[in-house]
Amino acid sequence: MSTPICDFVNKYIENDTSRLHMPGHKGVSLLGMERYDITEISGADSLYEAEGIIRKSEEIASRIFDCPTFYSTEGSSHSIRAMIYLASLFAKKRGENLRILAQRNAHKTFLSAVALLDAEVEWLMPDGSSSYLSCKLSAEEIKKVLSRVDKRPNCLYLTSPDYLGNVVNIREIAAVCKEYGVLLIVDNAHGAYLKLLENGSHPIEQGADMCCDSAHKTLPCLTGGAYLHISKNADPVFKNNAKDALSLFGSTSPSYLILQSLDKVNGLILDGYDKRLQDFDKECFEVKEQLKAAGYVFCGEENTKFTLETKKYGYRGTDFAQIMRNNHNLECEFSDPDYAVFMLSPLDNGLNKLKDALLSVEKREAICDTPPHISLPKRAMSVRDAILSPSETVSVDMSLGRVLSVCTVSCPPAVPILMSGEIIDENCIDAFRYYGIRDIKVVLE
Ligand SMILES: Cc1ncc(COP(=O)(O)O)c(C=O)c1O
Repeated sequence: MSTPICDFVNKYIENDTSRLHMPGHKGVSLLGMERYDITEISGADSLYEAEGIIRKSEEIASRIFDCPTFYSTEGSSHSIRAMIYLASLFAKKRGENLRILAQRNAHKTFLSAVALLDAEVEWLMPDGSSSYLSCKLSAEEIKKVLSRVDKRPNCLYLTSPDYLGNVVNIREIAAVCKEYGVLLIVDNAHGAYLKLLENGSHPIEQGADMCCDSAHKTLPCLTGGAYLHISKNADPVFKNNAKDALSLFGSTSPSYLILQSLDKVNGLILDGYDKRLQDFDKECFEVKEQLKAAGYVFCGEENTKFTLETKKYGYRGTDFAQIMRNNHNLECEFSDPDYAVFMLSPLDNGLNKLKDALLSVEKREAICDTPPHISLPKRAMSVRDAILSPSETVSVDMSLGRVLSVCTVSCPPAVPILMSGEIIDENCIDAFRYYGIRDIKVVLE
């Protein structure tokens, strides 16, 4: 019984019961998967009040991840809002307001969570050479901020791995957080698979109090499948309120297709998918070594994510992605002027195809321009005030001195260049132009 949700639905299909309940398709095949798409009928349990098959499935996931694990069918975005809510509850329990120290390359959902929960944020800026998508930092830098007496943050929010595959040393940083009694939350949306590797690199293993993983990004799960993990060592307030936190921000109609997919992933892992992934991880490492010998330069520490620093090979990232698309029928995860990101899995032949395609591209003279350096802009108002203020859309060319309202960054990578409430300066305008952003939403004056 490693897949209780799938088993239940298969039995229901076999019984050929007349579906006098939602969803309206009644199990009749239009796209093909309708018969699997059920709702909270008798025996199907209920995600936020789980006591039956969903609870059993979450318990299996908890054993795999070796910590209390809760499902979401609405992505890490959902788990992020739940985590910030739980952090806020915890701060209140200690008689404090939530003050978060966050790496600047946070996903835009983090901003919406901060706005909804009225948390304070202090940003950790990337070093001068980095893209806005990465924010390298050390335990010493964190320690410097946390040893401050005035307005000390009570929560640290990290994004690791980031969109480019950079991984933070969570273990060292967790030790600093423990020393200062600071809660450690990790956006591990890109790193669900880390738990299946042999090196203990999943954030919970490394000492984080909570993290979210998008199962759908790096495990064979349908889009939307995600986890909220809570450390066994974390204060009981987190585990005890996790379901309520998810329920607060989630739909009352969670997708049973996605629940079955999360359930199925457990079954796959228990059947040996972890070993398959470990072998594949090594294979990716070796292929990268061959590609490096051919002149390619990679960013980041993840093996299964191929983030090419394409300018060093003579191409802009977006042009490179187009070559892969048009000449090799390969679609990347993301590209911008500097990078092309490819995400690999042992489930198909993508690695060999990518390798052959990359080896067939002619190396050119390196392109030497770099992205504009973005320094911390001045803040005019809180994230919450900016997002909740009436706004208007203006062209970037007319935006100097205005205050950013909602971040209208597209996904991928959905990482804002400028945060809500900050004042647009020349620097930001250069960055917007560099990344092809033409219009933005600003607070109405
Ligand atoms: C770093 C990061 N965090 C969070 C998210 C949100 O994850 P989801 O799409 O599962 O809601 C994303 C999505 O791309 C992401 O890249």
